[in-house]
Amino acid sequence: MRAEDPRPVRLADYRPSDFLIDEVHLDFDLEPSATRVTATLKMRPNPAGDAGAALSLDGDELKLISAAIDGAPLAADELDVSPSNLRIANPPRGPFELTIVTEIDPAANTRLMGLYRSNASYTTQCEAEGFRRITYFLDRPDVLAVYTTRVAGPKDETPVLLSNGNLVEQGELDGGRHFAVWHDPHPKPSYLFALVAGDLGVVEDSFTTVGGRGVALKVFVEHGKEDRALHAMESIKASMKWDEEVFGREYDLDVFMVVAVSHFNMGAMENKGLNVFNDKYVLASPETATDGDYANIEAIIAHEYFHNWTGNRITCRDWFQLCLKEGLTVFRDQEFTSDRRSRPVKRISDVRNLRALQFAEDAGPLAHPVRPQIYHEINNFYTPTVYEKGAEVIRMLKVWIGDDAFRAGMDLYFDRHDGEACTIEQFVACFAETSGRDLTQWMRWYGQAGTPEVIARTAYDASARTFTVEATQKTRPTPGQPTKQPVVIPLVLGLVGPDGADVDLKVGGEKAGPVFTFDRETLRVVFEDVAERPVASLFRNFSAPVKLSSDLTNDDLLFLAARDSDPFNRWQALQTVALRHLVQSTDAVREGRSIAEEPRIAEAVGRAFAPDETDCAYAAQVASLPSEGDVAREIGENVDPEAIHRARSELKGRLRDSLGDALEAAFERLAETGPYSPDPASAGRRALKVAALDLLAAGGARTGVERAHGLYISAGNMTDRVMSLQVLSLSATPEREEALADFAQRYGDDPLLMDKWFLIQASSPLPDTLDRVEALMAAPTFDMKNPNRVRSLIGAFGAANPTQFNRPDGRGYAFVAGVAAELNTSNPQVAARLLGSFRTWRALEPTRRAKAEHALRALASTADLSPDVADIVRRALA
Ligand code: ARG
Ligand code: ZN
Repeated sequence: MRAEDPRPVRLADYRPSDFLIDEVHLDFDLEPSATRVTATLKMRPNPAGDAGAALSLDGDELKLISAAIDGAPLAADELDVSPSNLRIANPPRGPFELTIVTEIDPAANTRLMGLYRSNASYTTQCEAEGFRRITYFLDRPDVLAVYTTRVAGPKDETPVLLSNGNLVEQGELDGGRHFAVWHDPHPKPSYLFALVAGDLGVVEDSFTTVGGRGVALKVFVEHGKEDRALHAMESIKASMKWDEEVFGREYDLDVFMVVAVSHFNMGAMENKGLNVFNDKYVLASPETATDGDYANIEAIIAHEYFHNWTGNRITCRDWFQLCLKEGLTVFRDQEFTSDRRSRPVKRISDVRNLRALQFAEDAGPLAHPVRPQIYHEINNFYTPTVYEKGAEVIRMLKVWIGDDAFRAGMDLYFDRHDGEACTIEQFVACFAETSGRDLTQWMRWYGQAGTPEVIARTAYDASARTFTVEATQKTRPTPGQPTKQPVVIPLVLGLVGPDGADVDLKVGGEKAGPVFTFDRETLRVVFEDVAERPVASLFRNFSAPVKLSSDLTNDDLLFLAARDSDPFNRWQALQTVALRHLVQSTDAVREGRSIAEEPRIAEAVGRAFAPDETDCAYAAQVASLPSEGDVAREIGENVDPEAIHRARSELKGRLRDSLGDALEAAFERLAETGPYSPDPASAGRRALKVAALDLLAAGGARTGVERAHGLYISAGNMTDRVMSLQVLSLSATPEREEALADFAQRYGDDPLLMDKWFLIQASSPLPDTLDRVEALMAAPTFDMKNPNRVRSLIGAFGAANPTQFNRPDGRGYAFVAGVAAELNTSNPQVAARLLGSFRTWRALEPTRRAKAEHALRALASTADLSPDVADIVRRALA
């Protein structure tokens, strides 16, 4: 690790820029290894800045060719230049034009930030700080400029030349070259700049906005993959319509473009008018995509499109405000999916995901507030906390102030701040105004890290006919925050009477609820006129991102699982019973005791497979047990992943034994009949079928394995094929090897399908998995330069394989840390991401904990760690 701690960036140090840039004119002369970029910036001192300041522009690995002010070249003594900075001590004190020529090498750009090559195309990624790898600039989100971009390149290699905004000019040049000029009238920060050039296929369509604007829609993909872009195109149209209907937001350019690229550090990017996507989140056809792929594409297309208003029209003042656009836009895409598919199923899967990633992050050394106060490397803050917890905070706000005040607050925000770079305070102030509430304490959700733990107790007093709910909240210390204060928790609850109907809520003689404000350490609510003992259904629809423990008995929970009118809590109740059982079973495994029987779990799970079940997607969620990670988090410390795995496998085996016939029947009944359709109902049937198959094949049971193999072979769609392969991968059988070989044979030419093949093998709990992963890394199909491939093999091994990543011999840790060290220089962002699998290392039992620490320390002592990797390692070890 570098000797001294590099200077962190602090929110408290924010100052407005000393200069503003009103217009940016960019001229790109594309050459794979020597692209010339001429940037002409119309600048002026910022009245809100420091009047006598020097002009200091950000750079990153840049080579300056020349610089001029108002046409006069700057002499060497008038500027101070390095690859990472260009400083002009005495710039004009009025408006001026700065022209900068740089030369960059897209072909050598393995970090995939700035302008780089993917296959034969050029593409860009500028968020957060990639624009400074293209030209020297005030690369900060509060400097908004109008961009005009001219791109010139060879006609044969780059027939398609794209940038942000509307196409205003194009023409021929000498030497087989041509050019295009794009103009984006909407002022934007540099992180939203994009350029794409290449030989791409396109699918075209159009959309007419409510206001009557005709918008050309284009999705660019590799030639020959056009038929795989149709679902993305449909998703764009659906997103545009939904944002008009639900948020009153209309699109604002004549063209909206999406480009799919094969080399991409993240999921996708919302560049103004020119979204760039990881091709994994664009390409889908019945032959190549699973139900999950179809759903992801729809959600991510929506997410990036929704950024046009929440992110682009209104952007962030500084990177500490990242959740202003990300939390809000995740909330919006979740709502979109809820409206298009099943709302309860979407909520359940979002909460599963939140707990698996964000709760885990919040409980470990990498915990940070939704709005951090300090960072060393901003790329490491594109986290589940900023995104998913950020979305939960918005969802809670809506629950707490009500739908009308929420919608009015959004409208006010759009009206008041359109065209600005904002803070969370400015956003929250809109809702304080429309709701009339004091949101001062609310801000703690943004400033305080850690998951609040709520303990609830209930008591029925038959003679007084009262039912009391008492709850306490506590948040444990997190790094840098030793003491915590109570947060405003909207507690949505219902009391379920013995007949299964909700009891009318009456408090202090008046009708009350269902939303209760829980903003102190303790909340006590006494419900009156309660004729019979009800069961409390707490945090309906997961009304707040808290960790709940309650004195509800398993009988109470199983009653809720059968009768609660809230579908989320029906699901949650059974999960809680199963989780309690798994925690006890894990103890038993570790202590060499036998595991207790809990036949009622099987009974409740069995209902999901009943012949009259119509909501299969929901039933599939009911039938899916808490994950090994859920159990680990519930245990919290001294975690033994192997014992958890054994306890969970045992429960699956028992479910198979007691539900066998119902599972067989469901598997048969849910077999495909017609042609494939990815619609939610059909996808739900497949999900339930796979849940049955997963139990049937538990522990490598012969009939289950044979059925899985049968489904693999006869599969008429990619979901059945991939899911059956996944089930087969869990046990060491000849069928597994046969199917894996067959898959590689069939789909060896398709990178996205091969990614699934790598991922399935990397996440198998079999003891030889690490050997396999290492062997696969050495195979010619593996490519360290492709982030999707790295994530599907090494990322999945670290993040989706609790027993093998956490091998007691420590080899799993050393392996992942070693790959991170290897990627440290070539792609630091991807390297740092891989280390996310260490986010829970401190909760492990002592032997594993020591091995994990050893691997992290070895990495820490590696020479020349990138800021990305150094930051994660330092925080993980702190
Ligand atoms: N803004 C993009 C999104 O829609 C993600 C950008 C991620 N950037 C990064 N440096 N990790 O979520
Ligand atoms: Zn986003």
